Amino acid sequence: MRRLVIVNQKGGVGKTTTTANLAAALVRRGWRVLLIDMDPQAHLSIHFGFDPESNEPTIYDVLTQGTSVTEILRDTEEGLRLLPACVDLAAAEVELAGVDDRHYLLRNALSPVENEFDAILVDCAPSLGLLTLNALCAGFEVIIPLQPHFLALQGLMKLGQTVALVRARLNPMLRIAGVVVVMQDSGTLLSAEVISGLEQILAAHRRSGDAWGDARIFSTRIRRNIKLAECPSHQTSIFTYAPKSNGALDYAALADELFGTAAAAPVAPADAAPPVAAATTRDPRDAEDAAPSESSMRTATA
Ligand SMILES: Nc1ncnc2c1ncn2[C@@H]1O[C@H](COP(=O)(O)OP(=O)(O)O)[C@@H](O)[C@H]1O
Ligand SMILES: [Mg+2]
Repeated sequence: MRRLVIVNQKGGVGKTTTTANLAAALVRRGWRVLLIDMDPQAHLSIHFGFDPESNEPTIYDVLTQGTSVTEILRDTEEGLRLLPACVDLAAAEVELAGVDDRHYLLRNALSPVENEFDAILVDCAPSLGLLTLNALCAGFEVIIPLQPHFLALQGLMKLGQTVALVRARLNPMLRIAGVVVVMQDSGTLLSAEVISGLEQILAAHRRSGDAWGDARIFSTRIRRNIKLAECPSHQTSIFTYAPKSNGALDYAALADELFGTAAAAPVAPADAAPPVAAATTRDPRDAEDAAPSESSMRTATA
């Protein structure tokens, strides 16, 4: 069973987009996938049609009231299962401050259902607070989405130190699987500089045996693709919304790189959706490949 935690303490760097579409790629291969929204902004929940203002119980109730995860588990149209979030989740950081075992609340809550899934993907808030620590204690592999822009590497060392601390004190199973470059604008000098800086950081840590140990930069790059930004408002993944887009090709390729090709999937249920085409070829005629304007380069928020 794979347990991925998608983390970066910066906001707007592609965590939720990566979580949602990577999970959708796996479901289409017949994997049983659980999505967990650990961000009070609840973007992942909204993406898959949950209304965070509905007053229905969420992961907040699981963490603070001991509500069973089976009570909040949702089925999405695409066959994903979701533990949704709501804005109250922000208060959990404070409410749980004095609770024993507060780092393991998510991990413990998952144990009754974990055998029902082949993969669990956790989408994190843009912080390294208690919610993210719970995600890190419940996970095995950290995936860091990184947008290759100015200041992209700032904060990465802090993230690495946090993962190292969690690994040393709370969850020895945890490691950084790698960094996935997202929202890439093809051929920009800045991208090349950021990626080279990142390679230096990883090289410095390789053989160190720390949390970065065997982390890599995934060779699949997620190109900037407007369809990826549009699909949440249609409450679908990229594979339903725009299956031929570069966004779909890129996330299918990332799933191949992370989990092996479709043939290596766990035993697929008979009624599983057919696998999407592997993204080994990219159509250069695809208009979405066009580089975006400078104005679309985003500045990071802390
Ligand atoms: N590859 C991409 N191409 C274009 N827009 C993207 C891409 N990845 C993410 N976005 C958009 O960028 C914004 C931030 O992405 P998001 O996944 O919500 O980041 P985070 O979860 O880290 O805050 C969202 O509006 C999202 O739709
Ligand atoms: Mg998000």
